[in-house]
Amino acid sequence: MRSEMKTNSLRRNTVLVGIQWGDEGKAKIIDHLAESADIVVRFQGGNNAGHTIVVGQEKTVLHLIPSGILHTNTVNVVGNGVVFDMSVFLEEKTKLEARQVDVSPKRLKVSELCHVIFPLHQLLDRARESAKSKIGTTGRGIGPTYGDKSMRLGLRLGDLNRPETAKARFLANYHEKLLQLKELGQTEVPPADEMWAQCLETFQKIKPHLVDTSRFLNDESKAGKQVLFEGAQGTLLDIDYGTYPYVTSSNTSAGFASCGTGLGPSQLHYVLGLTKAYTTRVGSGPFPTECLESDAEVGQWIAKKGNEFGSTTGRARRVGWLDLVALRRACEVNGVQGLALSKLDILSELKSIKICTAYELDGKRSQNFPNFDLERVKCVYEEIEGWPNFHGTQKENELPKAVLQFIKRIEDYTGVPVAMISTGQKRDEMIVRV
Ligand code: IMO
Ligand code: MG
Repeated sequence: MRSEMKTNSLRRNTVLVGIQWGDEGKAKIIDHLAESADIVVRFQGGNNAGHTIVVGQEKTVLHLIPSGILHTNTVNVVGNGVVFDMSVFLEEKTKLEARQVDVSPKRLKVSELCHVIFPLHQLLDRARESAKSKIGTTGRGIGPTYGDKSMRLGLRLGDLNRPETAKARFLANYHEKLLQLKELGQTEVPPADEMWAQCLETFQKIKPHLVDTSRFLNDESKAGKQVLFEGAQGTLLDIDYGTYPYVTSSNTSAGFASCGTGLGPSQLHYVLGLTKAYTTRVGSGPFPTECLESDAEVGQWIAKKGNEFGSTTGRARRVGWLDLVALRRACEVNGVQGLALSKLDILSELKSIKICTAYELDGKRSQNFPNFDLERVKCVYEEIEGWPNFHGTQKENELPKAVLQFIKRIEDYTGVPVAMISTGQKRDEMIVRV
């Protein structure tokens, strides 16, 4: 099994996905793998993501630009499955430019098929949140933009190159959204002409980055280049397989890496699933292993030590124990071939650590993740001994015995080998088991 990872590091296209509720530490793994990749591509989500990379003393938070950008050997691509906020892209670009990172169109490409997030989408997202739904979204307009895409009301970046027809469609959509916004009590909406003019002006700066990214990726792939797919969010937030309706509005799982880039499924060679050694969730929705009541204190301790605050919205993340029932389901849905573990070091110095190995629902015990009634399940836990600190180590033989037992338990339960272990936030704090 390990040899798959080896082939991968030599020259295979890897898909990295988060297999919890997001915030698993994907950017650090992408940054690590990008060293030997040629292209890093985002395939879904938008600037609801918050991807943090730490190199030396410097911390970089990216929301939209792929996390391979700090490696000069890579071309970074925003694939068609991503919903695109033009202003956020330009802000990120400017920040990177200020640090002498090359973000020229030569190494930063955007699909002309990305759907555009307009201010209307953000207003609607926020108005819905305050008026009714309370999903706890990031307020970035993600749901309304994907909604418009499915309803065939959206505009793609390439449509802005045809301003006459695009404007007519924009106006039709504007008036429809205006009614919805009024209904939700949001009356302060900038005039349509102002919004449109602003959009076209901003677009001029995006234009040089636009390409047919599917064409680009296929050509490069045929030429033997290695592609790394960067997932955003996590499987439990997937629109189909997540905890609906408390999910994001895209398919976050590995299968979508193909749809969201235009590289066929046969080009996805290796799926790496990333999980923390515990679980976090931002926003509302069921969370079986959440540390509440007698575990509330230890939950707060983990949250503080693990700095569990959202890098997009700054919200405090809810914290819970590792959930193997959910994890195995996520491994299946994604076809995970190797696991990456993060934040094991955060749990060090706890006396004991809990792992959820089954759910009980209406008196019945099961290891299958249910599609409904997740808010009613009771967790069955195994408790294992804690471990001493090993922060930053790069050698597997320096890992405490209890950590190796914990890893073995995850491998046995999921049937998937652990291929990478992150031991800290920094780039080189990592053990690769190949
Ligand atoms: P990364 O890529 C954690 C959550 C929101 C909310 C739900 C829907 O950093 O792991 P949305 O704005 O997408 O409509 O919100 O999804 N959410 C995330 N949680 N990490 C993320 O991204 C997230 N992106 C969205 O908190 O519960
Ligand atoms: Mg996040």
